[in-house]
Amino acid sequence: MENRVQALIGAQWGDEGKGRVVDALAREVDVVVRYQGGANAGHTVIVGGRKHVFHLLPSGMLYPNRTCVIGNGVVLDPEQLISEIKGLDPAPSVTGVRLVVSNGAHIVMPYHKKLDVLSEAARKSRGAAGAIGTTGRGIGPCYVDKYNRIGIRAEDIVAPKLLEKKLRASVEEKNLILERIYGEPPINFDELFEKALSWGSFIEPYLGDSTFEIASAIKDGKKILFEGAQGTLLDVDHGTYPYVTSSSCVAGGVCTGGAVGPCRVDRVIGVAKAYCTRVGEGPFPTEDLKETGEFLRKNGAEFGVTTGRPRRCGWLDIVALNYAVMVNGLDVIALTKLDVLSGLGELKVCSSYETDGAVTDRFPNSAQALESARPIYETLPSWDEDISECRKFEDLPAAARSYVKFIEEACGVKIGLIGVGPDREDTIFRDF
Ligand code: IMP
Repeated sequence: MENRVQALIGAQWGDEGKGRVVDALAREVDVVVRYQGGANAGHTVIVGGRKHVFHLLPSGMLYPNRTCVIGNGVVLDPEQLISEIKGLDPAPSVTGVRLVVSNGAHIVMPYHKKLDVLSEAARKSRGAAGAIGTTGRGIGPCYVDKYNRIGIRAEDIVAPKLLEKKLRASVEEKNLILERIYGEPPINFDELFEKALSWGSFIEPYLGDSTFEIASAIKDGKKILFEGAQGTLLDVDHGTYPYVTSSSCVAGGVCTGGAVGPCRVDRVIGVAKAYCTRVGEGPFPTEDLKETGEFLRKNGAEFGVTTGRPRRCGWLDIVALNYAVMVNGLDVIALTKLDVLSGLGELKVCSSYETDGAVTDRFPNSAQALESARPIYETLPSWDEDISECRKFEDLPAAARSYVKFIEEACGVKIGLIGVGPDREDTIFRDF
């Protein structure tokens, strides 16, 4: 069966290198859709040595004549979007890229970002255990308004009368919170209203009905890629709650945030790094606080694209990866950054946990249970060779091949793509 409609999902705690895999797939697809999250994401694509970072725009923006969609499930920071559109070089008018922004995407307002930072600081002051380590991009507070049915949607910022009514009510409420709970100065409604209208006039040409856009692309037999942000273990339902983001990062989120029926998705691709990283707080069983963690951070350049924070690093966790395989129904895995493991010496992989004296290969759906999970490792042969020039699986050293095969067997899923370096070309394709 041809894979016309595909979903690409982070299989760990985000930062798996999804941008480069989307970029590789975008060669063959007509439409790329972001369906959840917002500018908390940071997707890096390196083309010809030049680095492109997108927080909101779909990674497919770099290919000519594509349609890129920001779906209704995304929370949209207009200032970020406008700066990314303006920064595109060459511009979409030259490349023929069409951008469609859903009317129904919720707008991240400056007060969302402010409240995100303030509530995070308050949680921190109540003790480190309460802090989540958010990116401060207003994601949680914006989704709160969405689900509280008081959010401002993209369609509202091009409708001045409606905007005035909705924004005034929102600002009144937020000012009470800012002043009375946090002792902060209030937001000036008039200034924000003017700003919102100016965002609206910039974004208006891109606004559209993403639901019909996607439905007609499917009907026309177009190839569509749903580009996930963050990762399975940060999903608001299936991740390590409460140390999660506020959106549905798993494959199921494609249906609601991207407006597509589940049976229309032909293939679900999971992206996993050859080791694990996490930013922010929360349990991370295989985290290594010593030399290995340092080696991975340095060699893998593991610093947040959005916040610049150093990422926590550790060994590959097969228990967690198998959970992602299950929750998303992964059909294939793209394994990124295999090259980072070159020269690491002994290679370990966590294949089960010990929790309260019992051994389990089930990933617990509870941050508390995961806190007490002790990883049980298997040691695998390592390699020292630089593998960044390898373009075929057979080119890899035997130990690297057996590392890949070990993961495939442990997860029961084929690894169809292997990243061996940061550039677009540094990729091994195996029936992908
Ligand atoms: P928020 O999404 O900013 O609310 O942050 C919630 C948690 O998700 C924090 O631990 C963040 O570090 C993490 N997070 C959010 N976006 C990303 C991402 O794109 N990559 C990795 N972690 C992320």
